[in-house]
Amino acid sequence: MKHVLFAASECTPFIKSGGLADVIGSLPQALVKEGAEVSVILPLYKEIIHSEYRREMEEVMIYNTPVGWRNQYTRILKYTDRKVTYYFVDNEYYFNRDGLYGYIDDGERFVYFSNAIIEFMYRIDENYDVLHCHDWQTGAAVAIGSIKRPQPGMKIVYTIHNIQYQGWMEPSAFSDMFNFGMEHFAGFEWQGMLNMMKAAIHHADVITTVSETYAEEILTPFFGEGLETVLEYRRHDLHGIINGLDMTEYNPLRDDALDYRYRSSCKTKLKNKMALQSALGLEVDEAIPMYGIVTRLVSQKGLDLITHVMHEFLMEDVQLVVLGSGDQQYEDYFRSLFQNFPGKVHATIGFSESYARKIYASSDFFIMPSLFEPCGLGQLIAIRYLTVPIVRETGGLKDTVVPYNEFNHVGNGFSFEKYNAHELLDAMRYSRSIYQDKAHMDALIHNMMQSDYSWAKSAERYMSLY
Ligand code: GLC
Repeated sequence: MKHVLFAASECTPFIKSGGLADVIGSLPQALVKEGAEVSVILPLYKEIIHSEYRREMEEVMIYNTPVGWRNQYTRILKYTDRKVTYYFVDNEYYFNRDGLYGYIDDGERFVYFSNAIIEFMYRIDENYDVLHCHDWQTGAAVAIGSIKRPQPGMKIVYTIHNIQYQGWMEPSAFSDMFNFGMEHFAGFEWQGMLNMMKAAIHHADVITTVSETYAEEILTPFFGEGLETVLEYRRHDLHGIINGLDMTEYNPLRDDALDYRYRSSCKTKLKNKMALQSALGLEVDEAIPMYGIVTRLVSQKGLDLITHVMHEFLMEDVQLVVLGSGDQQYEDYFRSLFQNFPGKVHATIGFSESYARKIYASSDFFIMPSLFEPCGLGQLIAIRYLTVPIVRETGGLKDTVVPYNEFNHVGNGFSFEKYNAHELLDAMRYSRSIYQDKAHMDALIHNMMQSDYSWAKSAERYMSLY
């Protein structure tokens, strides 16, 4: 039986800022079904300290973690779910703060976390076959673990969820925060700085990323964000494995957030749409197609295409419902659309999980024209809620959405290739014309129902990699 320790900076249901949390919250469960034994180690953030979970945690050990010249208090708390054990690294100085990231000392916070993970592996009475780290926040754990090998025979897997965030630090941080001699400097250095993602790519036994297309894309300069040459010399150890969706968590038949639950009934889905139209003050009419956008408002998500052509698209008889927060310029754009198209557009700047689910369930179409998308979760949720995705053919979007072909009725969404606003506009207009034809919509719904994005296949691939 494989024994795996996951290390990451977020995990549902405890703490989430993006899709990483969903993966860390659901992949371990899927691996357990494949016969693995899995634990997860996470920071104990303020939000978790104040959550219901905190009361059910027990203390398992206390030790000091070296961070360069510092010696930092570390307490490990344990929370057991039926199948997966969660360990929380408790250090109030680094983690008893609001939110997850965005602090001036984020580099030091996650180097500390990484060191604490390796110290934990020396002390815990378990033999792990694999340490599986995710994204830059645990990149240092890959490097430190590979140099020190706290458990003999243990291999280290590193998964890139988004290569845009790399964990850059001043070169002086090497002697300040790490306890290695200069012979190891080169493994951490990139372009005159320290780079935690580079350190992880350099040291990992195996590297994965979250779709096959993204695994190819990051070998090129545009997608590689400066690390394409580092990846190039590891390309034989680089694998693309598509993320799955937690089918229990996202299930329109059991989703408490919905006004009307459904499995295959479009009639019931329409009731959700009309309920939302009336709640938001949009024109209540089941025949008007509703387009949904749920996203972080950052340029990665293709917002520049949307802001370029959405006015034009809104001249047609359509409705748009938006939920998200992020960069000021996009927040302002959606606020102004909301004001200028009363009864047609509704925008909420912020985030609410239950409201997001209402939008997925109520919309006819889901717009996600990302500039790049390692995997993407929105399109998978949309398909699960029988909402037709409109995506750009990049990364995981390309690997999961099959463009609809009106001649043979194959496909579960709409897509376009170039990062060009008018290609998006054409795709939206095409979806609008398809919407008028019941036979096409029935075929799309049927094909979405047949699409299987559960974790089973990908969990098997991780198992064989381990
Ligand atoms: C990041 C990526 C997203 C991916 C998620 C989980 O958030 O941007 O595409 O789905 O990680 O792997």
